[in-house]
Amino acid sequence: MKKTVLVTGGTGYIGSHTVVALQEKGYDVVIVDNLANSDKEVIYNIEKTTGVLPKFEKLDLVDEQACRTLFEKYSFDAVIHFAAYKYVNESVREPLMYYKNNFHSMLNVLSEMKKHKISNLVFSSSCTVYGTPEELPVTEQSPVQKAMSPYGNTKQVIEEILEDCCLADKDLNVISLRYFNPIGAHPSIQIGEIAKGIPQNLLPYLTQTVIGKRDYLSVYGGDYDTPDGTCIRDYIHVVDLAEAHVSAIERLVIKEMENNYEVYNVGTGTGYSVLDIVHTFEKVNEVKVNHKIVERRSGDIAQIWADTSLVNKTLKWKAKYALSDMLQSAWEWEKVMNEKHKK
Ligand code: UD1
Repeated sequence: MKKTVLVTGGTGYIGSHTVVALQEKGYDVVIVDNLANSDKEVIYNIEKTTGVLPKFEKLDLVDEQACRTLFEKYSFDAVIHFAAYKYVNESVREPLMYYKNNFHSMLNVLSEMKKHKISNLVFSSSCTVYGTPEELPVTEQSPVQKAMSPYGNTKQVIEEILEDCCLADKDLNVISLRYFNPIGAHPSIQIGEIAKGIPQNLLPYLTQTVIGKRDYLSVYGGDYDTPDGTCIRDYIHVVDLAEAHVSAIERLVIKEMENNYEVYNVGTGTGYSVLDIVHTFEKVNEVKVNHKIVERRSGDIAQIWADTSLVNKTLKWKAKYALSDMLQSAWEWEKVMNEKHKK
């Protein structure tokens, strides 16, 4: 029988790609999203990609009653919890909003899972938990450091909550995936990243610059202790990242876990600098990226990339896409969105 997965935040950037990957593997998917940072149209774009319209519930998981009703309506085999606020700067300005939203929704989901004896959960965590790493690449054993923002703190504290819940309840199985920097769009170019307002992340800002919506890309800091002076990150194609969730679900549903709480780095294992991104983007897309090196952005770390041996071996997952694929798809997506907005 088909397994049903609840994907919270399933109309968002990583969520929507994960829904596609799950459907392609034969899972039934129910999306729940409050559409605070996404659009309902995404479910129809998912349908254009896979031929299957996911079930959709517009609701806010912070609302205990709404969350209860959701779990009464469906029978889930597993949950992937993406629904959260995700902007570092905004979280510094509005810490309470971040703590309320990100904690309450997770706690409500966990309570309902317990009530309905749903034992499988994938949580979207972040490499931000490593802070400024002392050694590179970072492994899952690298120390977790004090979060530099309320956003980062919600990821750290939720990881701790999940570990505590798993200790107390041996029937609960949880996998936390620590994402590195997801970029790119699905090859169908039906789904991708929709940046509302002025983008904070590198790729949407870069593509909006090339399309002419922004004058130039500010490269934050040219004096870091890295080969070209700009920051290094482990950029991963969002489709690869989505596949990692399917691998995690498969490990959970076939009860392969040795412990009931596991954590994995999800990156490619290769770091690229901001200037590598700019130059590769120019080369693969045959465009010019207007850019200027400016002051460092506060809170940025110089460099981080993942040791992926654990995820490669245990989840039997490995990133397939190259940087050029990520940057080509990001550009194709920007062009499609631009055409849509013209209409
Ligand atoms: C941030 C979050 C991370 C989150 C990720 C994706 C922290 C410290 N980081 O990562 O948790 O998962 O976003 O949402 O919490 N850059 C520029 N110009 C720009 C924008 C960015 O030069 O206009 C540079 C940054 O300095 C950085 C790199 O590009 O070196 C990537 O930045 P960004 O896309 O914002 O991601 P992170 O800050 O790495």
